[in-house]
Amino acid sequence: MQVLSLETVDSTNLYAKNNIGELSNCTVIHALRQTSGRGRFTRKWVDLGDGNLFLSFVLKPETKFSSSFPNITQYLSVVLCKVLETFGVEPQIKWPNDVLVNGKKIAGILCEAVNEGGCFKGLVLGIGVNLNAFDCDLNLVSDKVITALNLEISNSVDVYAFRNKLMSEFSQNYEKFLEMGFEFIKEDYISKLVVLNKDISVQVLNDVKTGFVKGVTNTGELVLENQEKEFVLTIGDIL
Ligand code: BTN
Repeated sequence: MQVLSLETVDSTNLYAKNNIGELSNCTVIHALRQTSGRGRFTRKWVDLGDGNLFLSFVLKPETKFSSSFPNITQYLSVVLCKVLETFGVEPQIKWPNDVLVNGKKIAGILCEAVNEGGCFKGLVLGIGVNLNAFDCDLNLVSDKVITALNLEISNSVDVYAFRNKLMSEFSQNYEKFLEMGFEFIKEDYISKLVVLNKDISVQVLNDVKTGFVKGVTNTGELVLENQEKEFVLTIGDIL
């Protein structure tokens, strides 16, 4: 993997999308600071200052759209958990791909497909990880309880070392994941899933579905059950 390093950018995802024609497969766009980070559902991703991780993988497979791509954010969430574990914490995954430590969000993942003139050009898979933050800055994010790795381990974290571990863990099984899809990570993913066997509510577009989490399908969807029926959710935001 090659890395394109930037000091400050509006958003590594936007940069990657705007330059996808010139970027080769598996390039990583890494920025030290982000002024306009993007999150899921048009949310913002807040830059908590120096020493945090903002990067986007540019994925341009030789073949066309892979059937594993809808699960690529879940693949990255498992990869991130493995890296976080090496720091002695016990990460968990909030479906579909938020990563939590001690119940608090530490990272966010946003995947965007790039199409030009009806042609699929590739995927931009962005991840932000809170590695170094001050306690007093955590309330810059008002809609979620968040944390940063340095606060969990009482030690500052080297952003470059973390980035390199993440890239290496990502590459290690990427081809295998493309070949096998969600089933390749299912066991690891479920073992970290925070909502399993719990009653939850999920915002699905303009609707809220409430039920008991029975599990996850072989293609990564969440299976919810209530007295009325069973729901298989492809997208959504757990409330
Ligand atoms: C979310 O939790 O809503 C997803 C957040 C994704 C944030 C990362 S930071 C690097 C990359 N560039 C962006 O603008 N967004 C992603």
